[in-house]
Amino acid sequence: MKILAVESSCDDTGAAVVEDGRKILSNVVASQIKDHIVYGGVVPEIASRMHVEAISSVVGKALDDAGITAKETDAIAVTYAPGLIGSLLVGVNFAKGLAFSTGKPLIPVHHLRGHIASDYLTYPDLEPPFLCLVVSGGHSHLVRVSGYTDFEIIGRTRDDAAGECMDKSARALGLDYPGGVNLDRVSKGGNPKAYSFPHPKVDASKYDFSFSGLKTAVVNAVHNASQRGEEINIADMGASCIDAVTDCLVNNLFAAADEFGYKKIALAGGVSANSVLRAKCEKICKEKKLSLYMPDLKLCGDNAAMIGSQGYYEYLSGNTADETLNAYATMPLDKPIK
Ligand code: KG4
Ligand code: ZN
Repeated sequence: MKILAVESSCDDTGAAVVEDGRKILSNVVASQIKDHIVYGGVVPEIASRMHVEAISSVVGKALDDAGITAKETDAIAVTYAPGLIGSLLVGVNFAKGLAFSTGKPLIPVHHLRGHIASDYLTYPDLEPPFLCLVVSGGHSHLVRVSGYTDFEIIGRTRDDAAGECMDKSARALGLDYPGGVNLDRVSKGGNPKAYSFPHPKVDASKYDFSFSGLKTAVVNAVHNASQRGEEINIADMGASCIDAVTDCLVNNLFAAADEFGYKKIALAGGVSANSVLRAKCEKICKEKKLSLYMPDLKLCGDNAAMIGSQGYYEYLSGNTADETLNAYATMPLDKPIK
């Protein structure tokens, strides 16, 4: 089954053709980074306008690269939640038009379910159940993946996401958007113990995260140093920030793995590209003899191939939509509204 997938939840316009949930026939992403860089973050109005400009050619290229026409696909999958509403609406409406004109089934896909599916593309033999840490710019979830469409969130951030914490810390250090990527790059070789940042815990729930206090601590450390006229070692401060964020993530991840007895651990979402997070997970999994699944670096960020993969499993579970499908800025991963 060949699924044409569309993704436009934030600032990347993506289209892909994926066969049977596992094989990428094409995967095209038009990034808007250079258009948002001057603002230091994504400007929603600009993002949706740029999706409108890009979507036809991105979908056309994905079909061309796969060597098929829209009529030769078997279904159209699209990210319908969560994300920037103006951005989501562009993809949803385009996909609805395509499904209507070709008579193909329309499959709504939750963006974070899509991120988890990037591991199915990277590891063709991976099957649920497994425990997944889903970390992106807007979400930090610890998810029990019991089936392809069966999820339970056992931990979530109470305030900022891990990606937001690293993006804003990077901005305070004068690094360009997208901050997390640049923070990772400039922190290589830095001393992760040079600065002592808090490792917040949430009393009420042992698997929840909290990153806003850590973000504020980094921002304050940068401002205090500049007020005192002290030079900041960006590599050291960046490495210390990343060390604290990733400690919080891996502590909860592996405590849950122990409690629930998981042998398969997965990472997903933009922050899963972080080199320190990957290295820490590799080390712990080796020690504990657990299998670790991390998306190919090309599939960590937003892309449509992951939507095509998850779309296949949503289709097998009967999760299709008609022309009344709407887009939603927020939506729980485990209990989606249709
Ligand atoms: O999944 P994603 O591409 O978009 C959302 O769904 O939010 O995640 C974007 C987030 C941003 O916060 C970005 O800075 C972060 O992922 N990110 C990283 C790295 N690459 C992307 N954070 C830390 N280290 C990286 N290497
Ligand atoms: Zn994402």
